[in-house]
Amino acid sequence: MYRVVVNAFGGPEQLSIIEAPDPSPGEGDVVVRLTSIGMNHADLMARRGDYKLSSGSPPFTPGLEGGGIITAVGPNVTDRQTGQRVVLSLDAPTSKGRGQGTYQSHYVVAASKTLPAPEALPDQILGALWLPYLTAWGCLIWKQNLQPGQRVLISAASSSVAIAAAQIAKHYGSLAVGTTTQAQKVAKLEAMPEACYDHLIATSQDNWYRQAKQLTGGKGFDVIFDPVAAGDFLNQEIRLLAEYGALWIYGLLGRPGTVDITPIIRKRASIRGWLLNELIGSGVEAGAYRHVLERVADGSYRLPVAATFPLKDVRQAHEFMEQGQHIGKLILVS
Ligand SMILES: NC(=O)c1ccc[n+]([C@@H]2O[C@H](COP(=O)([O-])OP(=O)(O)OC[C@H]3O[C@@H](n4cnc5c(N)ncnc54)[C@H](OP(=O)(O)O)[C@@H]3O)[C@@H](O)[C@H]2O)c1
Repeated sequence: MYRVVVNAFGGPEQLSIIEAPDPSPGEGDVVVRLTSIGMNHADLMARRGDYKLSSGSPPFTPGLEGGGIITAVGPNVTDRQTGQRVVLSLDAPTSKGRGQGTYQSHYVVAASKTLPAPEALPDQILGALWLPYLTAWGCLIWKQNLQPGQRVLISAASSSVAIAAAQIAKHYGSLAVGTTTQAQKVAKLEAMPEACYDHLIATSQDNWYRQAKQLTGGKGFDVIFDPVAAGDFLNQEIRLLAEYGALWIYGLLGRPGTVDITPIIRKRASIRGWLLNELIGSGVEAGAYRHVLERVADGSYRLPVAATFPLKDVRQAHEFMEQGQHIGKLILVS
């Protein structure tokens, strides 16, 4: 087997591949050959040293999600078999301790931290569903209780989380408006069936804010789902909120700046934070997994795959992600 190691905080050159003997499963464990490892912006942050809470100090192995085929089953595992296709649960990496992420060809994990995958799911996407779909579903449906007919503004429209959010918003009967920082991505997103936004707006245009407001008949958005959350953009989002609207912040992509929150009072609106980890151990975790697996299996949700890279080409994959030109999910395959 082999795994990726971050040797020191820094650029993609700090990623290296370490070969190791094939692992044996302990009691209650399985070995999963990971055919699919979803890449996330958080992996870049971990490599740079901006996410130490999750990564710990180097050397560590990044990776928050994965899925694949069971190649060995340990003693006292009765409900998993060799050859079975599984998805790792959200907390599989953290259950192993910090720095034991999924950038590995073979992953030893408790059998209870795996979920059987439906036949209809291709091997390549088994480990790339949770971060997009559960981040969006957990916030919009579980926390926000999004209703049919409500208006949702989704920023960073080309990210897999945002595209998943658009699919979920449409599935639940809402209006989905996406914003992207890059004007050239608008036509590309419009041509992608997975990116089912009702409207797309490039925020590089001076009048983007007015365009967005017009799409709501001047009423503003009931829900804003945003990983940028800073500076002038945040000011404009606050002004785009409807009465009693909710602005959910789930990432820190933007650069902090002064923000005027006074419109929040007039609108009796709210700004709230969302972290996917809140799903773990909650009463809805199992139902959320089931919802996503079933909707992907029946084609209601379609993961937008931007590109796949062999796990051994992890440096190129990180360089590619860093450029920010991709639309959708990047996946490491082995
Ligand atoms: N809270 C949670 O639990 C949770 C869970 C999963 C992910 N996240 C967050 O969700 C966000 C998206 O994750 P991802 O893995 O899908 O990322 P990604 O594929 O790297 O997508 C990032 C996209 O964000 C947009 N963007 C806007 N401003 C940016 C900036 N200043 N720097 C970089 N990108 C910027 C760009 O899209 P456009 O070109 O379309 O504007 C970019 O393509 C990240 O912030 C991540 O940390 C949070």
